[in-house]
Amino acid sequence: MLRALSARLPPELVALTRSHLAISRPLSTSAAPASTAPAAQPGKTFYATTPIFYVNADPHIGHLHSTLLADVYSRHARLRDPQRGAIMCTGTDEHGLKIQRVAEAKGTSPKELCDSVSERFRELARAANIDHQVFIRTTESRHRRAVEHVWRELEKRGHIYKSSYAGWYAVSDEAYYPESQVAEVIDEKSGEKYMASTETGTRVEWMEEENYKFRLSAFREPLLEWLMSKPHPVQPPSRTGALVSSLTHPSSTDLNDLSISRPSARLSWGIPVPDDPQHTIYVWIDALVNYLTAAGYPWKGGEAFERGQVWPPDLQVVGKDIIRFHALYLPAVLLALDLPLPKHLLTHGHWTMDKFKMSKSRGNVANPFEAMKLWGVDAMRMYLMRVGGNSASDADYSATEIERFYRKDLAGQMGNLLNRVTTKKLLKKLPSPELLWTPPTQVEKEDETLIKLLEELPATFDRHLASFEVHRAIAAVFDALAESNRHVQLLSPWLATASPSSVHRALFFGSETLRLAGTLLQPFMPDKSAQLLDMLGVDPARRTWRDCEVGKGGERVPRPGKAHLWPAVAAPEAVVAP
Ligand code: MSP
Repeated sequence: MLRALSARLPPELVALTRSHLAISRPLSTSAAPASTAPAAQPGKTFYATTPIFYVNADPHIGHLHSTLLADVYSRHARLRDPQRGAIMCTGTDEHGLKIQRVAEAKGTSPKELCDSVSERFRELARAANIDHQVFIRTTESRHRRAVEHVWRELEKRGHIYKSSYAGWYAVSDEAYYPESQVAEVIDEKSGEKYMASTETGTRVEWMEEENYKFRLSAFREPLLEWLMSKPHPVQPPSRTGALVSSLTHPSSTDLNDLSISRPSARLSWGIPVPDDPQHTIYVWIDALVNYLTAAGYPWKGGEAFERGQVWPPDLQVVGKDIIRFHALYLPAVLLALDLPLPKHLLTHGHWTMDKFKMSKSRGNVANPFEAMKLWGVDAMRMYLMRVGGNSASDADYSATEIERFYRKDLAGQMGNLLNRVTTKKLLKKLPSPELLWTPPTQVEKEDETLIKLLEELPATFDRHLASFEVHRAIAAVFDALAESNRHVQLLSPWLATASPSSVHRALFFGSETLRLAGTLLQPFMPDKSAQLLDMLGVDPARRTWRDCEVGKGGERVPRPGKAHLWPAVAAPEAVVAP
């Protein structure tokens, strides 16, 4: 399969598909924990995407959040099935009026602005240990080829026509708004009156011009069918209702034909319409095609692509502010091109600061580089996913909360249990060393709750991820850690009076809880998991999904590190960008 696929994939994808297929099979012969995830299409590489980021400003915590979700899911897909291969794609959205104007205001060329800010997003991915295989920039020639191909295909199939547009446009959102969605607002400070989008609050400008239009209205029925299909493609499912009613409401304008070009006299920073350089392709059409470009579109000969080895995305992560573009426009274009639709669109809430959406324009952004420097990369990855992992709601960013999470959960539960089960003095009390990885022949009443939690943990964890409740997956691990700490406390193996059985059960279940936690959390905290499993002495070949079963972790000699897993962090302060 790999050889056939390699013949058509771009070199970048061939290398990564190979490297991900090369991961060795677990040594363990134990049965894999039960799966609750939907069965993967055979031969289909797991493909996850993030939105591509505007290069008008430096990355903030919200951008990191979108990227992390895609990273966690593609790492989890590799953990679940190392043979399958997983590709994660991220990148930067570089064309459009917004970038053109920011460059003008900074007195720089758009290309220079794009090069420097795009590099900041790459740096963020590096700094946050994002395992992406593709980083795409819309100014690359491979992308231009893909966009031109899409345009020509749409034109050939009769989905594009020339028309005129008169209406409102918000440069900041790069979006058209109908009359019903704009209202006059008064600037609090200057008293200036202007028109703004009622949805996003951003300023709109009146436009009257000739554009090309895409027959979006023709796709109402298949879009509705897709949106309502099971399992729901739009996650969390609570967001499907609003989309469906926006398509079915008689006065809805959401599916009016979409302007997909701007006169190049107004917008020069973009991809010209093929064979009509007087027009530039609308930046959202350009941007949405990135997911196809990254998957190798237009596939030479089309074969591997159509056979679906990379396309369609198994998971597209987007913030709730850009749902319409991903749940309506992209699927409509794909339907027009006869291409398969994405499997899941995970729409997440926003990070707020003092209850307002974090955004550069408001100036209330948290700097991810600074936060990771202070707390460490994996602590921030865990915090963002634990606190912001409920995609149905927004999450308020707070330095006090990070500190609390670090101290109580990471250090207090995980770190504390690790100290307990790797203490030489306690380990010496074990009647023999192999008892550390050997289940007791007889379980006692005190063990029952913990055993039940541990037996169910991998399936529970997987089920929460499959239903996109990331916060719950992490919470399930911390419930087990808390129960294990309680169990150790109850058995108090350090007491001179502790029976050999109590010492055995406290250390065995403690070590197993941490081994399962460390193995399951690899997608969330890759470095800390490795450190944790090293300290427990777990064989690197036994850190796979199939090893996530109580008592199946194999021989181990704990190697407590000199430093704590979660060392104390000095005096936290609000990490706010200047
Ligand atoms: N360029 C478009 C996306 C094109 S995708 C074909 C864009 N860029 S963005 O830089 O403004 O936003 C990128 C992502 O960051 C979006 O998913 C957005 O929701 C997310 N976030 C931006 N601010 C955010 C928060 N305050 N909180 C969480 N995520 C937010 O839109």
